[in-house]
Parts: sequence; C-alpha cells; structure tokens
Amino acid sequence: MNCADTFPERVLSGMRPTGALHLGHYHGALKNWVRLQQDKPCYFFVADWHALTTHYESPEVIASHTHDMVIDWLATGVDPDKATLFVQSRLPEHAELFLLLGMGTPLAWLERVPTYKEQISNLKDKDLLTYGFLGYPLLQAADILIYQARWVPVGADQVPHIEISREIARRFNTLYGKDPQIEAKARAAAAHLPDEERQRLLALRRGADQEGHVDMREQAHALISASKLSRPDKDALRAQVDGGRRSILREPEALLTPESRLPGLDGRKMSKSYGNSIAIREERSSVEHKIRRMPTDPARVRRTDPGDPEKCPVWQFHLAYSDEACREWVRRGCTSAGIGCLECKQPVIDAVLREQQPMLERAQPYVDNPALVRDILDAGTAKAQQTARETMREVRDAMGLRSA
Ligand code: TRP
Ligand code: SF4
Repeated sequence: MNCADTFPERVLSGMRPTGALHLGHYHGALKNWVRLQQDKPCYFFVADWHALTTHYESPEVIASHTHDMVIDWLATGVDPDKATLFVQSRLPEHAELFLLLGMGTPLAWLERVPTYKEQISNLKDKDLLTYGFLGYPLLQAADILIYQARWVPVGADQVPHIEISREIARRFNTLYGKDPQIEAKARAAAAHLPDEERQRLLALRRGADQEGHVDMREQAHALISASKLSRPDKDALRAQVDGGRRSILREPEALLTPESRLPGLDGRKMSKSYGNSIAIREERSSVEHKIRRMPTDPARVRRTDPGDPEKCPVWQFHLAYSDEACREWVRRGCTSAGIGCLECKQPVIDAVLREQQPMLERAQPYVDNPALVRDILDAGTAKAQQTARETMREVRDAMGLRSA
C-alpha cells in the first residue's frame, strides 16, 4: 500500500473532553476545523483516554463532558456530513497500535517531550508519575498514524507530539518495512516505464541517494505517481526510492493553527480555570453582563480621563470582532475621552451575540434530542473503525502477527 495514493490529504485532530467549550476554542481551533472540512476528508475525535491520563481519579465526568463538547463542535458548524466524528475509547484499535508501537519506542523519546516534565511540575496536586502519562504522546501517535493522516491541525504546544509521531512512524517503517526483494521488484517495474521516464527516474534516484537532494526524492515520487504503472509497480518503485523500505505508517505533518486573536475577559489567555471565558453557548444576559464588567485601561478612572486602547482588554475584542470604522471610532473616542467604556463595549457585545446566535440555533436540536449526538458518534465511529482496522491489518502483517 502507499498511503500517498490512498489517503491524499486526510486531516485528523482530537480534543480532550473538557466539557462546554469557550470562544477561545472557537477562534483557536474549531473555526479552523470548519474551514478544513470544506475541502479535505477530516477526522475529528474526542480524546477521552488522553483525558484519563490526568483525570484517572474522576472518570465519571468524561461521558457528560464528551457530550457537551461534541454539541459545541456541532454548534460551531463542524458538520457530520462532511467530517467523521468519533470517540477514541470506542476504538480498541488505537490501544492495540499504542501497545505495538510501545515495544520499540525508546523511553528517552517520551521523557524528553517538553510537555512531560512541564506538566508534572505544573499539576503538582496530581500524581502524574504514571505509565499512562508518560505514554501520552505515544497514544497520540497511535491516534494519528492509525488513520494515515497527512495533516494534524494543532496549536503550537502540540507540535512536539506531532514530531514524535513522525519519528515513531519512521522507526516503525525502518524496523518492519524491509523488503528483501525490493531491488528485483523495482527493476521489473521500471521495465514497464517508457525509456525516457525510466532514465529520468534513475537520474533522480541517484541525485537523491548519492548527492542527498531531498527535492529529487520528491520529484521521483511525483514521477511515479504520474506514471501509468500498475499499483504494485508503483509501490515497488516508491519503496526503492525510499531506500528499500515500504512505508507502512505515514509521517504526519503539523498544520499549525494560527494563534487565537481572542484573549480572555481580563486580557490573559482565555481559560475556564481562570474564570475569564465566555462559553460558546452562553445565555445572552450573561454575555452582556460579563463584557460590561470587563476591566479597561486602569488610567480611565473617571469618564473624563482619556485612555489608551493598547492597555485595554476590550480593545483586543475590537481587534477580533470590529471593522476598521468601528476601531477608528474607539481609538479616537478612547484617547480623547469622547466615549465612555460602556459605550465602547456595546459593539463588542453586539458582535459576540451575533456570532453566537447561529451557534445556539445549530445546537438546539441536539440539546432537545441527545440521541442525535449518539447517532452521529455511532456512525463516525463505524466509519473510523474501517480505516483503523485496515491499518492494523497492515501493521500486524508487517510484524508477522496474524490477524484474526
Ligand atoms: N493532545 C491533544 C491536546 O491536548 C489531543 C489529542 C489527542 C490529539 N490525540 C490527538 C490532537 C491526535 C491531534 C491528534 O490537544
Ligand atoms: Fe478600553 Fe474602550 Fe474604555 Fe478605551 S474606551 S479604555 S478601549 S473600553
């Protein structure tokens, strides 16, 4: 199999079930998911086993958190007709791949992931010196590799996890992708190419192998893909180009999500634990109340004191929500004390409510009928499972383990 052909641009991402999501999640991640699903096959899943790595003492909240979070996905426009939505723990295949990958993964790779030591010291009230927590990135690698995903949209904090997934895939392919007959197979396949293409391929392969031109390796792959050869012939030539190994697991790439432009109500990062967030589905009156109470430039003690938008968290909301005309009105009004802060906040309140209205509407049917959410996840899980099982057959095969 060659994943480049079978799964052209598959996108995969997961989120730990933290319950109801906030606008930071929307502007940070979900907006991006909604965009990606328009033109790429997307797999989005609830990483509930990952939640257990830190919350193993309170597994009982995970089901309701999953439900609430998936409704928020749907509310923001993640579309089950376009994307495949599922729950990690319902796919034991992830656990099997995690186990098999674990056999050959050096401990040091896991110990040196930056989030590992960081989290252990950040979350001091939890005992994270567990096998499960150390294995967090390996489980994530299994999540990704089992779908042969090409792109993994994540925030900057997750990039090391994608890097280790690449290393793990490469190591797997090196260990188990050897094919002693590759040269003979590749020679036979090349004989089916027109002379000119065959010579060009040979030149590219030499350039890549002997002179280390990476782009030549890519050009060789492009030439093979564009050729009229049969699938097995293409596979043999690709394997030869890659140094005599079959690529069983595809190396994924991080698709860095642009940093959310929306901070929390107090100007720090928006986070439920800081108490500075607005939920994706929040009562209108509560949204109004929260924004009205937002801190502003501390220099504006009285209405007549001029202020500086750069020192005010409300300005950050204008940057996320307002057009240039409105921003200009704020800049002038604030620095000249021409407008009051409540006045300044009103367009932000209106914009947030306008953004949330369609979300509330999209969520309503699922709130009224939770069975709809279950059906979506059932269908998504069944679809994901087909792919996961295919990969596991290849993985077992490569390792000489028999599939049932
Ligand atoms: N670790 C990710 C996070 O905390 C969640 C996650 C688990 C994930 N498995 C994944 C993300 C696979 C992308 C791909 O956000
Ligand atoms: Fe902030 Fe607007 Fe008040 Fe200026 S006028 S301090 S930008 S809320």
